[in-house]
Amino acid sequence: MNKRTVADLAPAELKGRRALVRVDFNVPLGEGGTVSDDTRIRAALPTLKLLIKGGARVVLCSHLGRPKGGPDPKYSMAPVAKRLQELLGQPVAFCGTVVGAEAEAASRALADGEVLLIENTRFEKGEEKNDAALAEAMAKLGDFYVNDAFGSAHRAHSSTEAVAKLLRPAVAGLLMEKELEYLGTALDKPKRPFVAILGGSKISGKIDVIEALLPKVDALLVGGAMACTFYKAMGLETGTSLVEPDRVEMAKALVERAGTVLILPHDAMVAPSIADAAKAHAVKKDEIPAGEAMLDIGPDSAASYARAILSAKTVVWNGPMGVFENPPLDAGTNAIARAMAEATSKGCTTVVGGGDSAAAVEGAGLAAKMSHVSTGGGASLEFLEGKVLPGVAALDDR
Ligand code: 3PG
Repeated sequence: MNKRTVADLAPAELKGRRALVRVDFNVPLGEGGTVSDDTRIRAALPTLKLLIKGGARVVLCSHLGRPKGGPDPKYSMAPVAKRLQELLGQPVAFCGTVVGAEAEAASRALADGEVLLIENTRFEKGEEKNDAALAEAMAKLGDFYVNDAFGSAHRAHSSTEAVAKLLRPAVAGLLMEKELEYLGTALDKPKRPFVAILGGSKISGKIDVIEALLPKVDALLVGGAMACTFYKAMGLETGTSLVEPDRVEMAKALVERAGTVLILPHDAMVAPSIADAAKAHAVKKDEIPAGEAMLDIGPDSAASYARAILSAKTVVWNGPMGVFENPPLDAGTNAIARAMAEATSKGCTTVVGGGDSAAAVEGAGLAAKMSHVSTGGGASLEFLEGKVLPGVAALDDR
């Protein structure tokens, strides 16, 4: 991590100064507009507590959801302010605008150690265009900038990129630092054997990460429906499984090039449809019936993937092995989660990419048993692909 962090700042850089902090509070809202999963809010608390303790005046900003064309009460940050207040145990002021006189006055009304959350940054049309004028207006809300929004770091938006160029210092928060340390160390200095597990439905979304990981890993275990595009490339019957016909040639080339590093499931759980999950049964990979679809990896593959994980010193996982929301099609995904938890207890570094795999380990109650569960879905994938994250690149170097 070659970026300055909030922990590098001198006391005089914090006390009495307004910190404009970009967080990723893009959280799910449930019944009555309350926060139904506060993982991302809790993950930002160490940075917020450090700033509060140092006497900074904390101005928080984030997007929530994908509102189109301006303010939409459905995506207001107000419920997030309420939950943050409970978690911090101190008042969190809320401003119903993003920029302008009201937001600026609210930021200037803060006393040392006080916290303000402004409205959803995507209520401003310029946000997703990385608009410079919007960034200038945002910069008026802070005296320095902190980016703790790893989950949004792959977006070059006004609140993640353009504004970081206007305020100094512009540093990483502690969550951002932790994410970059875990994912970065896994990629650049992995303890070996290094095993990656990739799942999910489509090979198209994972091509870049497969290409990036193949030269680095000792084994790349494939699961999820994307295994079927590889099966098709090998000339196997795939029944009604999800196959991307336009990626079959690419899958063929990958299998040939990867040799023994790329490992496909040798058995599968198949059923006529997801609605028929209860009828799922295991078959060998070359016995998928014409009228059925692969909906999870099979028990033999789950067991051999678990053995590979337990023999590894570094494991990175992104994407479920099956339709894990529909038991018993969660068996393969849960087997990976359990093996990773056990591997962690034996000293292996285990990193779970965000999104579905993070939801799966949370659901299995195993999140606390991983070395690190990323708060970024798209961001962790782009990082694993070796891409530069604009929200990180814009921060001060050490
Ligand atoms: C996420 O949930 O992955 C981040 O908050 C980014 O959200 P976005 O995909 O709507 O930009």
